[in-house]
Amino acid sequence: MAAAVASSDSVSIPSVNKAWVYSEYGKSADVLKFDPNVPVPEIKEDQVLIKVVAASLNPVDFKRMLGYFKDSDSSPPTVPGYDVAGVVVKVGSRVTKFKVGDEVYGDLNEKALDKPKKIGSLAEYTAAEERVLALKPKNLSFVEAASLPLAIETAYEGLERVEFSAGKSILVLGGAGGVGTHVIQLAKHMFGASKVAATASTKKLDPLRSLGADLAIDYTKENFEDLPEKFDVVYDAVGQSDRALKAVKEGGKVVTIVGPVTPPAIIFILTSTGTILEKLKPYLESGKVKPVLDPTGPYPFSKTVEAFAYLETSRAAGKVVVYPIP
Ligand SMILES: NC(=O)c1ccc[n+]([C@@H]2O[C@H](COP(=O)([O-])OP(=O)(O)OC[C@H]3O[C@@H](n4cnc5c(N)ncnc54)[C@H](OP(=O)(O)O)[C@@H]3O)[C@@H](O)[C@H]2O)c1
Repeated sequence: MAAAVASSDSVSIPSVNKAWVYSEYGKSADVLKFDPNVPVPEIKEDQVLIKVVAASLNPVDFKRMLGYFKDSDSSPPTVPGYDVAGVVVKVGSRVTKFKVGDEVYGDLNEKALDKPKKIGSLAEYTAAEERVLALKPKNLSFVEAASLPLAIETAYEGLERVEFSAGKSILVLGGAGGVGTHVIQLAKHMFGASKVAATASTKKLDPLRSLGADLAIDYTKENFEDLPEKFDVVYDAVGQSDRALKAVKEGGKVVTIVGPVTPPAIIFILTSTGTILEKLKPYLESGKVKPVLDPTGPYPFSKTVEAFAYLETSRAAGKVVVYPIP
C-alpha cells in the first residue's frame, strides 16, 4: 500500500501511482507497460501537481516512443502524454495563478522536442509549470478539454506565424486531423477567413464542412495544387510543403508543421503556453470553436496501448483521448 502524504490543503497524495511507462524506445506501442508503482513527481516552485482526469494523445507521443528525437529527448523510462486535463492538488511556492481544487488543462511540455518531461499525462498524477496551463472552460468536460491543448495551440501559432487575418483565404492540408480540425475552425470563426478549403479522404468531407470549411477537397480524387483557385495561405499539417507552394497566390504564405520543409514555406515547432488557451477561452465558451473527438474514443486507461496503435494509423478523425484515468 502506497504511503500517502497530505498537502497543505489536506488533499491526500500518494507517493506512488499508476502509470503507463516505456523503459526503452521501440517499434510500436507494445513497449508501453502498465506500472502501478511509479513515483508521484515532486513539484518545483513554479509547478502544480495535477490529479489527471483525462489525457489526449498526439503524434509526437508515438514519434518520441519510437526514438525519432532521442538526441534531444529526456532518457527513458518515460511516462508519455503531453496533453492533460485534471484538478490541481498541490501548488509550488511561486505559483500565483492556480490553487488547490482548480480544474486546469494544458500541454505539459513547453518545448515539444527539447527534454520533454519524463512523467507525462498517462498517469494518475503529473506535474506542470503554471505557465503552460489554463483554467478549464466550465462548459467543456475533462475529455473535451484534454483533447485541445497541443493541437489547438499549434493551429493558432501557425496562423499567427503567417499573420493570418480577416478577409484572407486559406487551404488546410490534413483538415480532419487533430491540428487541421482546429485550423479550419480558428481560421473561419476567430480570424474571419474569407474562404476555408481543406483536404481529407472521401468519408471525412462532411465533417470538414460542418467545422466551417467552404470547400472540402477529396485528396484521393483530386490534387489540390491542380485547382485553378489559389490561396493566400496554405497550412500544411501533412508534410506536403513542396506541393503546397503550388497552391498559394503570388505573395502568399505556406506554413508547415511536418518536415522536411521546402522554402520559402516556413516550419515551426509549437511552444506550449497557457496564454493561447486563455485567448481562445471566449471562442470555446461560446461554442464557436469546438473540441473534435475521434468517435472510437475515449479509450479507458486500460486500453492506452490500443489508443496509441490507433493514433499511429494516421486515420484519427479529431483527437484520441484516454479517459477515465483512475
Ligand atoms: N510542428 C509542430 O509543432 C507540430 C504540432 C502538432 C502536430 N505536428 C505534426 O503534424 C502532423 C499532424 O498532426 P495531427 O495531430 O493533426 O495528426 P492526426 O490527428 O493523427 O492526423 C490524422 C489525420 O490526418 C489525415 N491525413 C493523413 N494523410 C493525409 C493526406 N495525405 N491528406 C490529407 N489528410 C491526411 C487523416 O485523414 P484521412 O483519414 O482522411 O486521410 C486523419 O484524419 C503530425 O505529423 C504531427 O506530428 C507538428
